[in-house]
Amino acid sequence: MGEEKKLGIVVVGASGDLAQKKVIPALFALFCQGYLPPDFHLYGMARSDFDSEGFRRKIAENLTCRYTPGEASCADRTEAFLSRCHYCQGQYSSSDSFLDLFQLMREQEGDGPVNRIFYMAIPPTVFLDVARALGDSGLVACGDRDEWSRIVIEKPFGRDRETSDILIREMQKVFSEDMTYRIDHYLGKEIVQNLMVLRFANLIFEPLWSRAYIRSIHIRWAEPVGVGQRTGYFNGFGIIRDVMQNHLLQIMSLLAMDRPVKFDAREIRDAKVQLLKAIRPLSLDDLVVGQYGASESGRQSSYVAEPMVPSDSLVPTYAAALLKINNSRWDGVPFFIEAGKALEERINEVRIRFHEVPGHLWGDQQARVEANELVIRIQPDEAITLKIMNKVPGLDLKLARTDLNLRYQSAFNALIPEAYECLLLDVIQGDRNLFIRADELAAAWDVFTPVLHQMEAGKIAPELYPYGSRGPEAARQLARRYGFFGSDLP
Ligand SMILES: NC(=O)c1ccc[n+]([C@@H]2O[C@H](COP(=O)([O-])OP(=O)(O)OC[C@H]3O[C@@H](n4cnc5c(N)ncnc54)[C@H](OP(=O)(O)O)[C@@H]3O)[C@@H](O)[C@H]2O)c1
Repeated sequence: MGEEKKLGIVVVGASGDLAQKKVIPALFALFCQGYLPPDFHLYGMARSDFDSEGFRRKIAENLTCRYTPGEASCADRTEAFLSRCHYCQGQYSSSDSFLDLFQLMREQEGDGPVNRIFYMAIPPTVFLDVARALGDSGLVACGDRDEWSRIVIEKPFGRDRETSDILIREMQKVFSEDMTYRIDHYLGKEIVQNLMVLRFANLIFEPLWSRAYIRSIHIRWAEPVGVGQRTGYFNGFGIIRDVMQNHLLQIMSLLAMDRPVKFDAREIRDAKVQLLKAIRPLSLDDLVVGQYGASESGRQSSYVAEPMVPSDSLVPTYAAALLKINNSRWDGVPFFIEAGKALEERINEVRIRFHEVPGHLWGDQQARVEANELVIRIQPDEAITLKIMNKVPGLDLKLARTDLNLRYQSAFNALIPEAYECLLLDVIQGDRNLFIRADELAAAWDVFTPVLHQMEAGKIAPELYPYGSRGPEAARQLARRYGFFGSDLP
């Protein structure tokens, strides 16, 4: 259960989508389950014109009582939660605005030590303004008293290694590394957290987990919709920075890292950094970029027809990258990672393909032996499937690859928490293992920074693919070049 000390959570940018749809509902879910201390308050801060009552009405639109079903308890919990929510209108770069916020906090909390979380639910262009104004206002506890302050920031953390380093350095003038929680919300997903358990709590996988038994790994992230409302942001970043450099690389590092010495934040992150440093910087030859055009029916328009996107934009909405790890465990194993918008389906999954069984005991086609495959589906419908060979029942000898299937919803009769619930609880409890450390971020940027610069300097044009399709054909060619074939082709 939560700590008993007073807790003030400040959501900066509280009028925005992330705050309203993810962060505040996740805090409500923690509140309903008793994970917040009794003396907690939530403060929204943004430029938009609300008073606390208007802010509460806005919050109420997105609260659901999945942990406290039943009309009466839902209404009670909602009312109790909302009574602890307050709003302070202000400017992000103004320390006076944060002093106003401080005044509001003191009115609610009275004297005595209060732990504080500052959640930056704002565009990255204002991160530094807020951090500096917070520093100038004296609102950040420095850890020399009986209280702490923590800051939570969302990706994107810079645009490349250099801008990321600058952001880290400047933020650290106000918030030390120990106070900083860099969120990649993929790490809060149940099944992503399960990757370590799957690998290190089951004897059967680890001995096979290397080039000796694994032929290739494919990590795929696909969305059936285009960029939607977020074109302004997306056109400044593109799919490599938006999805690959963070979500997919994080999944890859959990899949491929060595066993940490201990299950604690420092050791886990050390193991991830070691793996990230062993990934060779991506080369242009091993990268395919695409951009969606109009759908074949003409009903969905192209990326460049989206509002705020320049008609000559070269920003990729799809990328496929072949990553190589330079260590003894993974040398020669291709990691094909793929992310795209406006594709034919919504899916995020990992396919681990094993080598074929050596020697052919059954020679004919009927009894063809296919390689094993472990499929981890992150979304939708979390599942783990092991594809294994079996004899098809009958008098003749026929083999078929069939699924050993674990579907989360039916295997665990429990509510699967939202990623933000888990991550926010970790921030409150000071558990840092699911957050990105500064050196981890630097190592992740080192994989992609050179190729991003080459692409931008060379004005590399992305291959157009129709909205709702499988993506660019060049990605299949890249996969073939690295030994993917037949039904194994991504
Ligand atoms: N939405 C998501 O699911 C999601 C997922 C992953 C990461 N993120 C990251 O989380 C952060 C917040 O996301 P979001 O979708 O909530 O963003 P958002 O709605 O664009 O912005 C949040 C709030 O910031 C203020 N704001 C917007 N543009 C601004 C500008 N140019 N200058 C100063 N203030 C501005 C607005 O509040 P006021 O006008 O009231 O001040 C807005 O309500 C971003 O860094 C984003 O990249 C979001």
